[in-house]
Parts: sequence; structure tokens; C-alpha cells
Amino acid sequence: MPSLKRYSTFGLDADCASIHGFSDIPSFLSLYNSHETVYLLGGGSNSIFTEDFQGAVLVNEIKGISHFDDESYHYLRVGAGENWHDFVTLCLENQWYGLENLALIPGSVGASPIQNIGAYGIEVNAFIDTVEIVVLDTGEKTLLKNNDCAFGYRDSIFKNALANKVLITHVNFKLPKAHTLATSYGELAALEKPTPESIYHKVIEIRQQKLPDPATFGNAGSFFKNPVVPMSVLANISKQYDTVPHFVVPSSDVQSSDEFVKIPAAWLIDQSGFKGATLNQVRCHPTQPLVLTNLGGAKGKDVIAMASDIIATVYDKFAIKLEPEVRLMGSKGLISL
Ligand code: FAD
Ligand code: EPU
Repeated sequence: MPSLKRYSTFGLDADCASIHGFSDIPSFLSLYNSHETVYLLGGGSNSIFTEDFQGAVLVNEIKGISHFDDESYHYLRVGAGENWHDFVTLCLENQWYGLENLALIPGSVGASPIQNIGAYGIEVNAFIDTVEIVVLDTGEKTLLKNNDCAFGYRDSIFKNALANKVLITHVNFKLPKAHTLATSYGELAALEKPTPESIYHKVIEIRQQKLPDPATFGNAGSFFKNPVVPMSVLANISKQYDTVPHFVVPSSDVQSSDEFVKIPAAWLIDQSGFKGATLNQVRCHPTQPLVLTNLGGAKGKDVIAMASDIIATVYDKFAIKLEPEVRLMGSKGLISL
């Protein structure tokens, strides 16, 4: 059984029945149709294999980037197996601006629409024109427009109605020539005379300071999503903690006339006493408690135990149930906590 250790940035010891790369749709379909249980993988930076997986892992290696422009936009068609950060860097080098706030996010271009990757005030859906997919059961190729993708915070149709039903083969981006810089997020606001290049370098610098490098300590970025809760929940917490950080969520994002706020999960976990805590070789990261790391040789059961303990403790203290952002894999497929 081949090892999945180097296929997932969390780096747990887990095997699977077989691993196959594919770089075009016909080879993908022939692999997909000849295996009963499969897991589609990009860069493995959001997938944690907690035990041996009894199926085949199909790794997307569809490559290629093409560009054209008109008066108003740069249009890019990008193979799902391209590396996300390399693509962002290529855009910057060619002065196709907009994606610079999303520098250094690990993983593949094909996974970027799935959880609508976001960082430093930008979510990728702002720049996605269409997503090219293949329907797994029929092999039919089709195109989803941005509005069809139901993008939200760390969410899209690919995590809901189309979960496990499609392969993303290409993502088509549309970058406005008259683009505006996004500098409202924390440390970016301090940039003097910001440019796309200075934002790109600052984002890289901040990320390298705050987030553990998977090459040193295995991790999958934020383990949990930041919870979005009604104002009444914030009011309750504020009775005890008057400095609870929060961000008002625009009503269009929650499709409700009630007011909702996002409370940083890092703060909830920090206040619950987990920052820097370890369970065997699993650690809640000391400078960013939203990230769990593998100190070396961590076991899947310990990752699950620590994550479950965090969920239960935060719930007892704040009546908020944290939801994992990562994809946790068990022996037969995705598992939930
Ligand atoms: P994988 O883990 O390979 O796959 C993720 C999911 O998508 C799986 O369910 C898989 O089955 C599915 N999938 C992958 N490719 C396809 C495809 N072509 N078609 C259909 N399904 C597919 N995320 C953020 O949003 N913002 C951040 O700032 C951020 N920072 C991070 C920092 C670190 C250090 C790490 C390790 C992760 C971070 N992440 C962040 C999470 C991660 O980088 C993203 O979720 C990324 O998009 C995952 O890409 P991947 O190719 O590695 O996905
Ligand atoms: N905080 C604490 N204690 C800490 C650290 C942070 O209380 O030790 C609180 C602070 O109030 C801080 C807040 O948490 O202001 C937010 O922290 P940070 O700015 O680091 O961002 P985050 O909300 O924890 C989110 C994304 C990251 C993304 C950054 C930057 C989610 C789940 N995570 O983290 O995405 O890079 O913002 O935009 O939305 C990922 O998805 O994997 C990921 C890393």
C-alpha cells in the first residue's frame, strides 16, 4: 500500500490502495471508472488522512495557463493542477493584478473555488469568471458561471450540492485592468503608497511570521472556520469579555435581515486555553491557535482527539460550535467531527 504522507501537508502516516496522477480528462475518466472508491487530490493542503484510506487517490496534474485580454480585462484559463502561489506570482510578474492578497496560499488552482480561498481582505470568487468541470458519473463536460457556484465564506456549491460529484478541470479568471488595491486588512493598512507588488511581499512576510511552514511542522492551515453568529451570541459573550474581537458580516453574505458577526476562532480557542497545548505529537500552534500542527509522527486519532476537545471546550465556554475547515479523511472517505 503506497504512503500518503508526502501527498498531504499535514504529513500523517497513512496508506491507500493506490495513487495515480492524471493530466487530461480521458485518463482521469478511465482511472475514475476503474476504481470503486476514489479521493480527488490537488496539493493535499486541506486534506488530512487520519488513517489508511481503502481507496484510490487520484492526483490532479492538469497543467497549462493561457491568457488573452480586451480593453477592460485580462482573461486566464488555468489548468486545475497548476500550483496556486506560482500562478499568483506569474500574474504579478505580468502585471495582471488582483490576486496579490492571496499569495502563498498552498495548494492547487483547481481547489481554489472549492472553499473559495481567502486571505487579507480578498476571496478568490471576486476574480473567477467560470469553472470548467466534468461530471463524475456521466463524464459530461460543462461550465459553471460565477453566479452558479454559490460562493460564500469558505463555501461553494462544490462543498454542497456538487460535493464528490464533479472534477474541476480548469478555472477561468477575469482580472480587471482598472483594479483597486485591497489594503483594509490589519497590517496591510500600514503600507505606505501600496502597490500590488508591495502587497504581495507584505502578505508573504506576514504569513511567514504567523503561520507554520508545513515543511517544518505539518499542518493544513486553519483547522476550523471562523464562526458566523447572530448579534445576540456576541452580546452574551460580551457580558463577560468586553473586548471580544468581531467583524460585522454584510447582510448580503448571510441572506438575512438580522445582523451577523464573525468571531475569530483563534480568539475562542486562545481563551479556552489551548494555545500552545500539545497532545502527543499534535500541537495547537503557539502564535496562531487556529492551526493544529504535526510535531512529527503525530497519529490521526490524536488529531481527532485534540480537535474534538477544542470543539467541546469552546462550546461549553461560549455556546459556539466550531466547524472544521479541513477535510478529514477516514478509511472509507470523508469524516465529520
Ligand atoms: P486538497 O487538500 O488537495 O483538496 C481539498 C478538497 O478539494 C478535497 O476535498 C479534494 O477532494 C477537493 N479537490 C481538490 N482538487 C479538486 C478538483 N480539481 N476537482 C474536484 N475536487 C477537488 N486557505 C485559505 O482559504 N486561505 C488561507 O489563507 C490559507 N492558508 C493556508 C496556509 C497553510 C500553511 C496551509 C497548509 C493551508 C492553507 N489554506 C488556506 C488551506 C488550503 O491551502 C486551501 O484550502 C487550498 O485551496 C487547498 O488546495 P489543495 O489543492 O491543496 O486541496
Ligand atoms: N487571535 C487571538 N489569539 C492569537 C491569534 C489571533 O485571539 O493567538 C485573534 C485576534 O483577535 C486576531 C484574530 O484572531 O485579530 C484573527 O487572526 P488572523 O488575522 O491571524 O486571522 P484568522 O481569522 O485566524 C483567517 C483565515 C486564514 C487567513 C487569515 C488572513 C479562516 C478560517 N482563516 O485567519 O486562512 O490566512 O484570516 O486573512 O478564515 C486558512 O483558511 O487555512 C487560513 C490560514
